[in-house]
Amino acid sequence: MSFRTERPQSWQVCTACGNEATELDPHPRCTVCGGLLALAHRPPALTRAELLARFAERRDDGPGATGSGVWRFREMVLPTATDVVSHPEGNTPLLHRAALDAWAGARRLLLKHEGHNPTGSFKDRGMTVGVTQARRVGARAVACASTGNTSASLASYAAHAGLPALVLVPADRVALGKLAQTLAYGATTLLVRGDFDDCLRLVEEASAQLGVYLLNSINPFRIEGQKTIVLELLQQLGWTAPDWIVLPAGNLGNTAAFGKALREAREWGLIDQLPRLAAVQAAGAAPFARSFTEGFEHRYTVRAETVATAIRIGNPASFERAVEAIRETDGVVLAVTDEEILEAKAAIDGSGVGCEPASAASVAGVRDLIRRGLATPDQHTVAILTGHILKDPGILLEYHGKREPAPPGANRPIEIEPSLSAVARAMEARGGR
Ligand code: F0G
Repeated sequence: MSFRTERPQSWQVCTACGNEATELDPHPRCTVCGGLLALAHRPPALTRAELLARFAERRDDGPGATGSGVWRFREMVLPTATDVVSHPEGNTPLLHRAALDAWAGARRLLLKHEGHNPTGSFKDRGMTVGVTQARRVGARAVACASTGNTSASLASYAAHAGLPALVLVPADRVALGKLAQTLAYGATTLLVRGDFDDCLRLVEEASAQLGVYLLNSINPFRIEGQKTIVLELLQQLGWTAPDWIVLPAGNLGNTAAFGKALREAREWGLIDQLPRLAAVQAAGAAPFARSFTEGFEHRYTVRAETVATAIRIGNPASFERAVEAIRETDGVVLAVTDEEILEAKAAIDGSGVGCEPASAASVAGVRDLIRRGLATPDQHTVAILTGHILKDPGILLEYHGKREPAPPGANRPIEIEPSLSAVARAMEARGGR
């Protein structure tokens, strides 16, 4: 018999002051200093080979979670969870398209397409864990602020769990597909006359006052789920790290999650080298990129404006955690213009892969990394595509159908009379295509 006090399987730690809380503590922030919380897990008593074998074999996680690409990594996510709320999610492809190598100036650029998740974005990976936790702590309702994807995902998982959902989104500038999904999945949807930063402030206040469980990415259980983007891509690469992982960055939850995943993968002996992270912001919403150029000495907030509405965020909540992720991986933060984002998106869409505007920031970032000599074309680079092409149909119809003069890759529809000769004329005009 041992008299040593054993650590529990998992617990929460404040990233600012180090105060600890139990795994089932429902507070959204540290109750001592208001800092952001993180989950810590006791590594299982398994060798590296045994743990990797478990990850590889785990195709059936029990009722509701068959084949989840999140719960497959449960030892590193939430090992004590049993009754999980899963669609399932994850298992997203790693794609290669020669046309995108050519566009970005890379030799072998891989794309991890998170748009293949059940609601069409990477948010489902965090939400399966977040909503599972909401049920474990006995939440009576769940809430988030969102630029659209988080709200669609929350609405879907809350419906699955039978929990009421409240979402706050900016009254304008939420992409059509995301708003439509959120309504259809049944969340109470508040169109706030303000921007995302206003929504986040408001939902934090509302959740504290009204006792509703907060599921923005400040919630540490969301971060645990999002880590699996990195774990799954490492698994797909045979547990060898690429040279670079490039991702779009807005509220910085994902950048923080990637840093944590890589730190833990190394601590647990799963990889021996860290890839470098490149976080890519839109130039009109780039407080993190600005701070990076000054060695992170100051934290900035901006009034955000960009065509990539998913990352139209001026005061990112996970700023400090993301700074750590960039520092620990010898990473960089880039800003790309809206024109570059749209050009990259046209190349991604034109390759047949397709993604939403914010996702294209990652591929625009890869081209920028190579042009600036920060990465070489031969380096092994993975770009994360965070959302599905159909999330934002409005921008597609505007880009292809309306913009004057026609932008690169624009594909104008041709309206015709219902006659064979009109079809023939249209084909001729397009060079027989
Ligand atoms: N890409 C997409 C498609 C997103 O929806 C988001 C964030 C990001 C990238 C950036 O990730 O915020 O973790 O840095 N969308 C949030 C939302 C803000 O409400 O859906 P981040």
